[in-house]
Amino acid sequence: MIMRVRRAVKEDLPLLARIEKEFSDNTWTEAQLREELESSHAFLFCCELNGRVIGFCDVHVVADDAHINELCIEPTSRRQGAAHAMMRHAIGLCDALGCSVLSLEVRSKNEPAIALYEKCGFEQVGIRKRFYQNPADDALNMNLYFNHGGKEK
Ligand SMILES: CC(C)(COP(=O)(O)OP(=O)(O)OC[C@H]1O[C@@H](n2cnc3c(N)ncnc32)[C@H](O)[C@@H]1OP(=O)(O)O)[C@@H](O)C(=O)NCCC(=O)NCCS
Repeated sequence: MIMRVRRAVKEDLPLLARIEKEFSDNTWTEAQLREELESSHAFLFCCELNGRVIGFCDVHVVADDAHINELCIEPTSRRQGAAHAMMRHAIGLCDALGCSVLSLEVRSKNEPAIALYEKCGFEQVGIRKRFYQNPADDALNMNLYFNHGGKEK
């Protein structure tokens, strides 16, 4: 099994849009994904398993604040470490860019994702009641802090 995380390119967009439409809670269209690809604040990554794209991740970085906007792996390729590999990649990028925090929201009932984020060192810092619709759910706010130069965060 060969797994590789790399920056997405425009040729990936139709497949990423299909993964998004079929398997994600989000509703980004191909055009919106293209905007992400072209934005100077956004980093769109995909994960390949044996040469085939199986999922992607989108991170926004503004000044020293970073936010995970999307993370999705197609169902047949789950539980093989792909999301963890992409999160490690995102965390390494944010660290290298000198970010102080990487934040995200996750459905309170999304146990796989919460377990993944906890494994990556995120902690719950808040809750937004009924943030999600269809089905209604609260959002957990989770943060990972970086400590550059030994300063208190
Ligand atoms: C959440 C998601 C991204 C995980 O992707 P994945 O590639 O299967 O995750 P990994 O194989 O890298 O798993 C890493 C860790 O996450 C946790 N995890 C992942 N899936 C899990 C599950 N079904 N149940 C419990 N823990 C799970 C485990 O801690 C796992 O480590 P382990 O395999 O050593 O136990 C995937 O299920 C998905 O795409 N879900 C739909 C979209 C989504 O919910 N995205 C997150 C939005 S905030």
